[in-house]
Amino acid sequence: MAPSLSTNELSIDDSTPPVTLASGASERSIRVHDRSFRPHISREEIQATVARIATKINRDFVGQELTVLIILRGGMVFGADLIRLLNVPCKIETLRAASYNTGMMSQGVIDVEDVFPDLSNRNVLIVEDIIDTGTTIVELIKQIGLLQPASVTVSALLSKPSMHKERLLIDYVGLEIGADFVVGYGMDYAGYGRELDSIWIVEDDVA
Ligand code: IMP
Ligand code: MG
Repeated sequence: MAPSLSTNELSIDDSTPPVTLASGASERSIRVHDRSFRPHISREEIQATVARIATKINRDFVGQELTVLIILRGGMVFGADLIRLLNVPCKIETLRAASYNTGMMSQGVIDVEDVFPDLSNRNVLIVEDIIDTGTTIVELIKQIGLLQPASVTVSALLSKPSMHKERLLIDYVGLEIGADFVVGYGMDYAGYGRELDSIWIVEDDVA
């Protein structure tokens, strides 16, 4: 008999698992929670993009030390790939910030963990998965700035320029995308889909 702990309580009472490939496993469509997504950015393109960002950071911080501040949870996969391509001395820190609940629209408010790592006199590189309205990154820069870092730079794998509420200067942006919601490579929809190794875009129109 299977031990009861092997039951995934998140998918219990639901005949459809949270993430499923369309039948035929063609990977042309995927179901995450209650929405369908189609392929958007391949693993190869993501890898090339992360490598491009790392090359620029390595060049810009030659002879310096970095504190990479990975913003959880969305930035963890990008951050994990990025740090392994850096060749400047690094300290790795994490900080939890959340701006989405279960939906696809930015809430306009963020919840930042109140225990910040010690960032004084450090060259802080903030690592975010995606910049949408910009609310999160603006708030993070403001709060981190209060900790007397030597410098603050920002790296985001993706950015949605048409959604930015104000003009943003993001030091290292991987790819600019449209306004539609994406999932995978650390980014979630309703908590699901972070484990996908490529990026998928919602098929239905976002209201
Ligand atoms: P902002 O504060 O509106 O810029 O939202 C930024 C945060 O919202 C990101 O760090 C993500 O966690 C989340 N987010 C924004 N757009 C998406 C998306 O298309 N898919 C998944 N998460 C997103
Ligand atoms: Mg995030």
